Amino acid sequence: MNSMGIFLLKGKFMKNLDERTITQAVIERNSTSSNERLVDIMHSLVKHLHSFAREVHLTEEEWEMGIKFLTEVGQICSPTRQEFILLSDTLGLSTLVIAQNHKKPLGCTEATVFGPFHVQNAPQLELGTNISEGVKGTPWFVSGNIRGIDGEPIPNAEIEVWQADDDGYYDVQKENLQAYQGRAVLKADNQGHYYFQTIVPEAYPIPHDGPVGKMLEALNRHPWRPAHLHFMITAPNYERLVTHIFKEGGEYLDSDAVFGVRSSLIANWLRHEEGLDPNGNFQDTPFYTLNFDFILNKQKIGVES
Ligand code: BEZ
Ligand code: FE
Repeated sequence: MNSMGIFLLKGKFMKNLDERTITQAVIERNSTSSNERLVDIMHSLVKHLHSFAREVHLTEEEWEMGIKFLTEVGQICSPTRQEFILLSDTLGLSTLVIAQNHKKPLGCTEATVFGPFHVQNAPQLELGTNISEGVKGTPWFVSGNIRGIDGEPIPNAEIEVWQADDDGYYDVQKENLQAYQGRAVLKADNQGHYYFQTIVPEAYPIPHDGPVGKMLEALNRHPWRPAHLHFMITAPNYERLVTHIFKEGGEYLDSDAVFGVRSSLIANWLRHEEGLDPNGNFQDTPFYTLNFDFILNKQKIGVES
């Protein structure tokens, strides 16, 4: 018996395998590694994969289609296109993994999917900067505080934000664009306060010109995500928070293609007529404001943020 309670045959019966004995044989062959976690994961994977094939009575044509699909998922991947993340997201696997790894005390800001549009080395900008970097759109003034669960301000927290523009595209999706737009790394002030200017992002379809798009179409599913702004917040001794803030009343909140919406992350993106903005400057078009406080969970002992 191994650590998962699976009975091992210890090298016997490795010939003449059939649909009843193959699972046990593979599990046994995989069981000599000294990496116990890998062995447990592979045992479970093989067990469930084989059960799946038995349950649906997978035909050879369907299995070939599956392999062709996964091949296409790999082939379309590039430094700016991560089809495997899209696959995980649209199958709900990302939300499942996040949910089971980020259980927090009530009152902490909830986490949601990371998505494929985060980039390393986004520009470090000063609080108050307009992070849209020249993209056209409705001005938006975003601010709030970063606090712990006991109400303590978290000074100098690092706040990374990224967003689509008002056509629903991220900078990395725009061919020939060499600059960063709609993304920044900011540092909260010594009271945990943050603020910046940007433009209001719109709802957008996830990239659906590849195999994941074909899968959604075959399943009669749309590829749209509700309008949102991404945040990743890190501070020493607190659990890293990866989340979004969604627009209250926006389309697709009840049918997000990647299952990422949580009620606690829907906020009022407040519309204002032309007039003085929060910086005291005159805006000659309507603009929006968002005030949102993030409550971080304490770091679990022995885990780095
Ligand atoms: C995003 O919000 O950027 C995103 C998340 C999952 C899949 C595609 C995009
Ligand atoms: Fe997004």
